[in-house]
Amino acid sequence: NDIYLNGLDGQLPRFTTDLTLLGASAREHLDPGAFGYLAGAAGSGATHRANRAAFDRHRLVPRMLRGPAPRDLSTTVLGTRMPAPVLLAPVGVQSIIHPDGELATARAAASVGVPMVLSTASSHTVEEVAEANGPDGTRWFQLYWPNDDDVCVSILERARDAGFTTLVVTLDTWTLAWRPQDLDQSYLPFIRGVGTAIPFSDPAFRAGLEKTPEEDVISAVLRWVPMFTGTDRSWDQLPFLREHWDGPIVLKGVLHPDDARKAADAGMDGIVVSNHGGRQVDGAIAALDALPGIVEAVGDRLEILFDSGIRTGSDVLKALALGARAVLVGRPYAYGLAHGGEDGVRHVLRSLLADLDLTLGLSGHRTPGELSADSLQSGV
Ligand code: FNR
Repeated sequence: NDIYLNGLDGQLPRFTTDLTLLGASAREHLDPGAFGYLAGAAGSGATHRANRAAFDRHRLVPRMLRGPAPRDLSTTVLGTRMPAPVLLAPVGVQSIIHPDGELATARAAASVGVPMVLSTASSHTVEEVAEANGPDGTRWFQLYWPNDDDVCVSILERARDAGFTTLVVTLDTWTLAWRPQDLDQSYLPFIRGVGTAIPFSDPAFRAGLEKTPEEDVISAVLRWVPMFTGTDRSWDQLPFLREHWDGPIVLKGVLHPDDARKAADAGMDGIVVSNHGGRQVDGAIAALDALPGIVEAVGDRLEILFDSGIRTGSDVLKALALGARAVLVGRPYAYGLAHGGEDGVRHVLRSLLADLDLTLGLSGHRTPGELSADSLQSGV
């Protein structure tokens, strides 16, 4: 409505409302290294493309004359109340994309009421992001599980104290993949940016350094790399996280039904079916194609969230119809950040939620819970 009314007043939207176009125009706002980091994918980009193509193989079958009853998109996932089944995916080192980075994202998320998931590789501390997100903001924390238990516990305690309620443990990025766009830039924007990531401000991490990270970024990065990459973690170590986190725990990056069963057997509260937006295993299956088998395997045992490739309201509905409880979006809001900081992220969130609301109603549903496989024609 705001868009129509502003238009009558002669004001057009600042950014396009077609979220599928934001990636291309983000290039104009970023230097090549930053754009490569944000838009890039693993290898040839086959899985990145497969994520989008998978949505096209499912079509909504709209239903008519079901009454003008008001729609309600709100839902509660793992105790977190949200205005729609949408969360902001963890995107690391957002200072590469915009100087306000995660602070802008946290403010925009709070203003729309959408929960954010903060990355371990955030360029601002958990305390700073919590303050920007405010007392009414809802926030989850994403862990890259370090080899050093003291650093791990220290980061978890700080996140918990700063009001992050749910822990999202990313399993698929125990080392960075072959990402040509980043390699062609020698990972320079990433290395410069990551020098401010959460572990660098952590007392337990700093205790292992001779100088402070500010004095000696290179040796801090060299300590970070072996601690956070190549980590040797296994399913039987999950009780350690349970011991040090008293809220829900979600494992992110699950693509095989057997791994989903292991997560359920380990007593995890949820999983995110995700291939990291096609940024890790080039040639991996589309995340959407993994979803139905995983829902069948463990849908009654834990919460199943989904990400990788969501761009429109209809994409959200398709993931929900295939059994996801909620979805995370990554690049779209980060493209919004590139376009206009906090305003850009808010624009993306409001556009996505409005599109979702309209498409839900036009396809004949009042709540996300009404969607099922029956709402789709698949394999088209
Ligand atoms: C990510 N992603 C990610 N995931 C994570 O667990 N921790 C992180 O620090 C990051 N960092 C990150 C940076 C950038 C630039 C991107 C694009 C993505 C993955 C992210 O959480 C999510 O899985 C994907 O972005 C989902 O795919 P779409 O929505 O980008 O297609």
